[in-house]
Amino acid sequence: MSYIEIEGGRPLEGDVRISGAKNGALLLLTAALLSDSVVRLKNVPDVSDVSTLCMLLQRLGMRVDRQPDGVLELEVEDEKPYEAPYELVEKMRGSVCVLGPLLARRKRARVAKPGGCAIGQRPIDLHEKGMKLLGAEIDESEGYVYSEAKKLKGAEIDMLGPRGPTVTGTANVLLAAVLAEGRTIIKNAAREPEVQDLALMLNEMGARISGIGESTLIIDGVTSLGGVERSVIPDRIEAGTFMAAAAATRGDVLVQNIRLDHLEAFLSALEKTGAEVDRELFGCRVRMTRKKGARLKPTDISTAPHPGFPTDLQAPFSVLLALSAGKGSVTENVFTNRFNHVDELNRLGANILVSEKTAYIDGVAKLTGARVKATDLRACAALVIAGMAAKGKTIIDKTEYLLRGYERVDEKLTSLGADIKLCEGEPQEPAV
Ligand code: EPU
Repeated sequence: MSYIEIEGGRPLEGDVRISGAKNGALLLLTAALLSDSVVRLKNVPDVSDVSTLCMLLQRLGMRVDRQPDGVLELEVEDEKPYEAPYELVEKMRGSVCVLGPLLARRKRARVAKPGGCAIGQRPIDLHEKGMKLLGAEIDESEGYVYSEAKKLKGAEIDMLGPRGPTVTGTANVLLAAVLAEGRTIIKNAAREPEVQDLALMLNEMGARISGIGESTLIIDGVTSLGGVERSVIPDRIEAGTFMAAAAATRGDVLVQNIRLDHLEAFLSALEKTGAEVDRELFGCRVRMTRKKGARLKPTDISTAPHPGFPTDLQAPFSVLLALSAGKGSVTENVFTNRFNHVDELNRLGANILVSEKTAYIDGVAKLTGARVKATDLRACAALVIAGMAAKGKTIIDKTEYLLRGYERVDEKLTSLGADIKLCEGEPQEPAV
């Protein structure tokens, strides 16, 4: 087995450079399937979700060259393959975004349906609805979605689901509509920065998309798309994770290479905890006083689609509330079951009760290390923050989740003064 070992109680101090956005890179990589020539992406994070998607793209006939310093070069060499197999889609649900480009370029796609997930229901009905409206036939059997279309035609498509617009659904439809005949209007499009950046890249490749950043996207189909060179936007979730870690450990960290405009909801919630937040041009310094008796202040957050508070940061933020002087809450509106970290935080001494979609958090003065289990990427990030803020040793079962989305995370945290190791083998129980 693999595990993360943390000796807590050390404030994080120093500068950290944020990597390219995992979820942004995934979308840009799938867009390369649409190109007639070379796509060169810079600032691509070296995380396992990106490697999984690269493997899938290779299976789909692409040349994928990873060059030093986060550069990836991609080029379609063989347009015959059209299947995304279960063993890869199951590892990384974002790979369902090959459906749109495959349909648009290769006229057919067979994509495994993503299965169960630790954070709640994640259907792909809206992706399928979008493809149907563009004129594709969809057939589901043996756990796969098979889709074909002689020609895609522009249509009006609404991406609103029961808990807001779908992020990868909007991207998937966009990736198909850019090569459809005529005009497509996507209503209730997701406005997440990663979707906006995908649209900007597609336009650089020759697509005609307007309304980028708004909730209605208008796409006038073109017949082909060319190559492009582009840098992946900074990872706003990694940035928020390091900022939460700085405040939770009562540290002083300058988080660099970020887009402040992508982080507004998170930063204003962070300010409410009493942590000092200094916005700089491409960075943000987060500090929490170490004065005796000083504590973080409680607040209430509710997750929402962008520009609201991001669901991917609610678990990391919960650690701040768990350590605050009073009662706060986290309401999760985007996913149906994203509180798997709560019982584990309680094992570290937190006092959190979940009722329906809200976690009620009664802050405690200190957390103490223990052995805990991670069940998804962001829950794991929250446990790492809690472990660093706790007194004593914390062992988190499984490093895999963390490595899906945080590049060189142990190295970055160690450089800030954390005592954290990613280990293989059987852990020693923390001494009592
Ligand atoms: N939904 C539907 N039907 C659909 C699609 C989604 O009802 O066809 C519902 C989902 O059940 C969920 C809600 O809509 O309740 C939002 O799901 P969405 O499709 O927006 O999420 P996603 O595209 O699968 C992406 C990110 C997630 C992030 C969410 C929300 C990628 C690869 N994943 O997922 O990132 O939490 O948007 O912002 O971009 C993570 O990085 O840890 C992560 C989970």
